[in-house]
Amino acid sequence: MKVSIIVAVATNNAIGKDNDLLWHLPADMKYFKEITNGHHILTGRKNYESIPEKFRPLPNRTNIVITRNKNYQAPGAYVFAAIQEGISFAEKNGETELFIIGGGEIYRQCIEQNLVRKIYLTRVHQNFEADTFFPELDENYWQITAENFKEKDEKNKIDCTFLELEKIR
Ligand SMILES: NC(=O)c1ccc[n+]([C@@H]2O[C@H](COP(=O)([O-])OP(=O)(O)OC[C@H]3O[C@@H](n4cnc5c(N)ncnc54)[C@H](OP(=O)(O)O)[C@@H]3O)[C@@H](O)[C@H]2O)c1
Repeated sequence: MKVSIIVAVATNNAIGKDNDLLWHLPADMKYFKEITNGHHILTGRKNYESIPEKFRPLPNRTNIVITRNKNYQAPGAYVFAAIQEGISFAEKNGETELFIIGGGEIYRQCIEQNLVRKIYLTRVHQNFEADTFFPELDENYWQITAENFKEKDEKNKIDCTFLELEKIR
């Protein structure tokens, strides 16, 4: 099973503030939905709670929530106490590509622990003030394999680039 990250990252690597996203980009939300549709997704407890209640668990996807709280309840989702437990669950379920959907703490650990082979990274071409950041990627280890620029428009007010990066060593 492949383990992938999907994330949207500002020019200054910002990804969130006050447990919320920093921008409204319907094109990126649509991309996220298309890429993750039908798959297992793994999220940290804080990111899960940042999704409005009526939209969670995210439909058409098996939602895995990671928390150290043994009594945590997330109706309709699967709760585990460690990232590796969530990954093993998806693998046992026959998943081919599991998506790590954040937030910052979970992304960082997955990269540091070398759990991820692919990153679907939407570069949002603007700087943002933030309290949560995506880790700096070492270019010696990550190669861009796809790149698709999307110019800002009426509904998406910031230029962005949809990138795919693969771990090369
Ligand atoms: N731009 C993007 O694409 C994007 C995507 C996702 C999220 N975000 C943003 O990221 C922010 C949230 O990220 P965050 O770093 O604050 O939180 P997070 O990574 O979503 O969740 C952190 C929580 O996950 C649990 N956790 C983390 N590591 C664990 C481990 N090894 N074992 C067990 N449980 C573990 C803990 O839950 P407990 O405290 O319950 O134990 C911890 O408090 C928000 O602002 C959100 O909007 C942005």
